[in-house]
Parts: sequence; structure tokens; C-alpha cells
Amino acid sequence: MKIVMTGGAGYVGSACLRRLVRNGHDAIAYDNMLEGNERAVPEGRLVVGDINDRAHLTSVLRETQADAVMHFAALASVPDSIGMPDRYYQTNVVGTMNVLEAMRAAGVCRIIFSSTAATYGFGQEMPLREGSAQLPETPYGTTKLAGERMIHDYAQAFGMGYTHLRYFNASGADADGQYGEDRRLEGHLIPLTLLVAVGRREKLLIYGGDYETRDGSCVRDYVHTDDLAQAHELALHSLEPGTARAYNLGVGQGVTVLEVLRACERAVGRPIAHEVVGRRPGDPGVLVASADKIVKELGWKPKYPEIDQIVATAWAWHSSHPQGYAS
Ligand SMILES: NC(=O)c1ccc[n+]([C@@H]2O[C@H](COP(=O)([O-])OP(=O)(O)OC[C@H]3O[C@@H](n4cnc5c(N)ncnc54)[C@H](O)[C@@H]3O)[C@@H](O)[C@H]2O)c1
Repeated sequence: MKIVMTGGAGYVGSACLRRLVRNGHDAIAYDNMLEGNERAVPEGRLVVGDINDRAHLTSVLRETQADAVMHFAALASVPDSIGMPDRYYQTNVVGTMNVLEAMRAAGVCRIIFSSTAATYGFGQEMPLREGSAQLPETPYGTTKLAGERMIHDYAQAFGMGYTHLRYFNASGADADGQYGEDRRLEGHLIPLTLLVAVGRREKLLIYGGDYETRDGSCVRDYVHTDDLAQAHELALHSLEPGTARAYNLGVGQGVTVLEVLRACERAVGRPIAHEVVGRRPGDPGVLVASADKIVKELGWKPKYPEIDQIVATAWAWHSSHPQGYAS
């Protein structure tokens, strides 16, 4: 299969690209490098381009004779989306429409879309299932749900097949310690915590200590990028024109922010400076997935169900690359 991966130089996209290439697929990244890292992409597999440049993306899809698109490119920070909805609608909604139009023009009819737990409404019964109400409460969640719906409508009208993969908290690093999380604007808990441990940040800020959870901090479901990559490969093998599927990707274990901090301290072997501050808009108290559907239908088997395993891989990356890919 020939696959074009928008956002394929980013954290999750590049992990999927490395796996697909290792397993003999002909895949390339198409990324504007806003948050991408050239060193995360296997040599010769990066095309620099923007999903808002429809003509360029169309020519790349035609030249590569792509069979499928994996669409990772997005702006993906809940707090940023609240202050900058314009940028989020441009990239996540208009950009997704460009991807679909480029696919139509080039005759590509398979797409796997990186969706998110943020498309679900707050305050629902846990774990969230694929049929739980999708009533997003942040611009990020709204724009990603718009992407899901647009892909569905295009698929129905123009004979495409799709799989939406709704990740919960993507985390961890490659087992060899050579590739991991490295963004210009970091907003994810595990890297933020480990950046304190390597001396690049002063302390970890924990937003909210008064949620109705076992220790007052937010509960999330952490899923390793290797396990996300496995799911993408399984989804690719089962994707045909006419397929219309959506799957949650989480391990079904709710872990609090303070428990993640303790796991990081165990991995690092010393305390990590932190402070509990007020809640942040857009953060629900608890998000936990049921991934039973993808386990049953596609045979997905996560290899990293425990937070300590995930954090150990992340620490192997951060401790050996304190400056990220620039190390
Ligand atoms: N990280 C998570 O926990 C998480 C959870 C749920 C869903 N997701 C989704 O997964 C996808 C990947 O997330 P990530 O964590 O790897 O983010 P990331 O920021 O590391 O990767 C996104 C990539 O898209 C690229 N990009 C952004 N705008 C672009 C544009 N206009 N044209 C081309 N490329 C562009 C960036 O340069 C970056 O390399 C996103 O769609 C995100 O919404 C991520």
C-alpha cells in the first residue's frame, strides 16, 4: 500500500510512519513542520507542504499514486483552541476539507482520521464508548468532530471508506529510546513533567486539585504511541471503499495527574518540583475509554497497558535527549 500521512512528522504521525516503513509499507509524511521534526521521519520520506495548499497536496497524492491517506495534521491543544478558534477552524476544518478535495481530485478513496476523546461531551458515564454522546465543549473538540462528520459525508457521497481513531492521551516513546515527544509548544503532561526532571522547566503546574476524583486531580487514559501505530496498521488492512468505522483508543485505565507525577518520579528516581494551581477551562475531570470495539473487531492488543511502562519509555527518550531531537 502507498500511504500519504499528513502531519506525519509530528509525534503520533511519525511513530505510525516508522512502524509502517519497518513493516514494508510505502509511506511518506506530508507536513508543514509547524510542530514536526525532520529527524523523526525515516530518510527520504518527508515532503514539506501544507494541507491548506490543496493544489500541492493533490499533486503529491497523484505523483505517489497513494492508496490511502492517514490524516494526522491538526492543531491539537485544547487551551490554545479556546483563545484562537480561528486558527483551529482553518487547520482542522478547512484543512480537512482540502485533504478530502485533494483525495477526490487524485482518486484516493481511503482515509484514516486522527480523532480524539475531546469530541465527547463532559460529565458522561465512564468508560466512554463509541456510541457515547459527541457534544464537544471546546473549539478543539468541535473542529475535530466537524472533521469526523465531513469525512463521513464525503465518504457517503463519493464512495470513500474511512476509519476514525479517537485517541485518548497519546504518550510514551519508541522502545529504543531514539524517538519521542518534542514540540515547540509543549502542553502534554508526561513531557512537561520530564522536562522539569531534565532541568528545562522549573516546575510542573497541575491544573486543579478539587475535581471529584480519588486525589482531586484530573483522570485520563494514557495510550502508548506504539499501540496507536499498531491500531493504524490494523485499520489500514481492514479499510475498503464503503467502510465507515470509528474506534476509541485508550487502555481503559484512568490515571490521575498526581499518579502520573509519581510514576515519573519513580522512573527518574527523585522528586519532581510541582505546584497545584486553579482549574483550566476546557478540562473535564475524567476521560476514560472503552476500547472493546477495536479489540473485538480488529484484534488490537495494546502492549503498554500500565502507566509505569509508558513513563519508562518516555524517560529513556528524555534522559538521553534532554534537548529533544536537537540533542
Ligand atoms: N497527542 C494526543 O494526545 C492526541 C490525542 C487525541 C488526538 N490527537 C490527534 O492526533 C493527531 C496528531 O497529534 P500529535 O500529538 O502527533 O500532534 P503534533 O502537533 O505532534 O503533530 C501534528 C503535525 O501536524 C503538522 N501540521 C499542523 N498543521 C499543518 C498543516 N496545516 N499542514 C501540514 N501539516 C500540519 C505539524 O507540523 C505536526 O507535525 C492530531 O490530529 C491530534 O488532533 C492527538
